[in-house]
Amino acid sequence: MGQNNELNRTRRRFLRMLAGSPVLASSHLLSNSVSNLLAAGEVTEKSFLGWLENLQESNNVISSPDQALDVMDFEPAARKAIPPAHFGYLATGVDDDGTVQANRDGYSRIQIRARRLVDVEKIDMSVRLLNATWSSPIVICPIGSQKAFHPEGEVAVARAARAKDHLQILSTVTTSSLEDVISARGGPVWQQLYPTNVWEVARSIVKRAEAVGAPAIALTVDLQEGSNRETLFRAQRVDQRQCSTCHTGAYTGFARGRPGVSSGGFAEAMARKPMFNKLDLSKVTALHAVNTNWDFVKRLRDTVTVKLLIKGIVTREDAQLAVEHGVDGLIVSNHGGRAEETLRPTIESLPEVVEGVAGKAPVIVDGGIRRGTDIFKALALGATAVGVGRPHCWGLSAFGQAGVEAVLEILRRELRTIMRQAGTTSVDKISRSYVVTHTA
Ligand SMILES: Cc1cc2nc3c(=O)[nH]c(=O)nc-3n(C[C@H](O)[C@H](O)[C@H](O)COP(=O)(O)O)c2cc1C
Repeated sequence: MGQNNELNRTRRRFLRMLAGSPVLASSHLLSNSVSNLLAAGEVTEKSFLGWLENLQESNNVISSPDQALDVMDFEPAARKAIPPAHFGYLATGVDDDGTVQANRDGYSRIQIRARRLVDVEKIDMSVRLLNATWSSPIVICPIGSQKAFHPEGEVAVARAARAKDHLQILSTVTTSSLEDVISARGGPVWQQLYPTNVWEVARSIVKRAEAVGAPAIALTVDLQEGSNRETLFRAQRVDQRQCSTCHTGAYTGFARGRPGVSSGGFAEAMARKPMFNKLDLSKVTALHAVNTNWDFVKRLRDTVTVKLLIKGIVTREDAQLAVEHGVDGLIVSNHGGRAEETLRPTIESLPEVVEGVAGKAPVIVDGGIRRGTDIFKALALGATAVGVGRPHCWGLSAFGQAGVEAVLEILRRELRTIMRQAGTTSVDKISRSYVVTHTA
């Protein structure tokens, strides 16, 4: 007994010393877990060894972007760099995170049929998308609150997008203003739209985006209130920091109905979100409006003078309706598996959406794209371009602009490689005949 107490004291002394040392200064995850261990009272052999194992693993994490072999290498680096609650926000799906996993798994059921003896010396990855040409089909998805990942947030992403000419779609809940992002991008960005439940607010966001030159608005329709983001909620529990020291209020609408979560004041939660600056939010109760329907799309279509896309379509029927309502493009998306637990990968929804639009509008797909071969498969199944969400935020979290650039560079390099290997010299040559779906 006495020996156990002595060991416990020694482990606690060691951990206290580590907690105050620069070794942990760069890792919120490790320093938080030390605090948790110390707060638990007894430091058992099991918890102590578990913690040491984490420390060892964290040593294998890349410490500069050029060490990364693939985009997945940035995920543990991001986990290490940012607070647990912020990482939880980035990582979370809903329920068991099954749809997040399904988005990945969908790609492993598709095989590539590589053609030989094609001159592939020159590879052209450029695409035409709504009257503009981009150097590659890799689009940066809208992701809210990017200053939770890095102080430069969306502006750092815009600079990375500029470096290699990527299309960036900016979230409505951006933490950098649209004007600053456009200036950092040095060119147009698309504006994503969460319409709220108040038409005048939606209209004002659209008009502001149009006025500063956004050539397209992407209305997100796949997120209702009440998503059960358990991974986020668990991460928030282990994060011992006071959120209010950095930001007042956080939007909890998606967690509505969860015990202990009040709906919160919308205006207060949006105080740091520049797209809502100076707008009358007194009647807004929801960011993702439950009352949005096809009449709303019609009204929006009549209001938007630039291109209008819908993000979050996953069925043939809705794709047909979208085209009938004059929509210019679709984004096949399940919000990266963080809206509802359908377990249906977006890559499996893509073919029916492509059929539904019948060539009348471009189709972008996102969700689970982590490899150049994933991009190739999506293009083969009819996508005009693909969206990348979490990976660019892993890069941003770990290394700022340089991390985002490195993530995009790896994806471009991998796409170029598979295009060469499969004998496709340009994106328009990547047709359905280059893939086969494995069903067993
Ligand atoms: C942290 C986070 C925040 C997001 N915020 C938004 C948003 O503000 N608007 C939106 O339309 N989609 C949002 N999405 C969904 C992404 O645009 C995209 O559909 C998804 O991340 C693609 O899946 P992937 O992360 O597996 O690449 C968000 C996704 C994540 C992970």
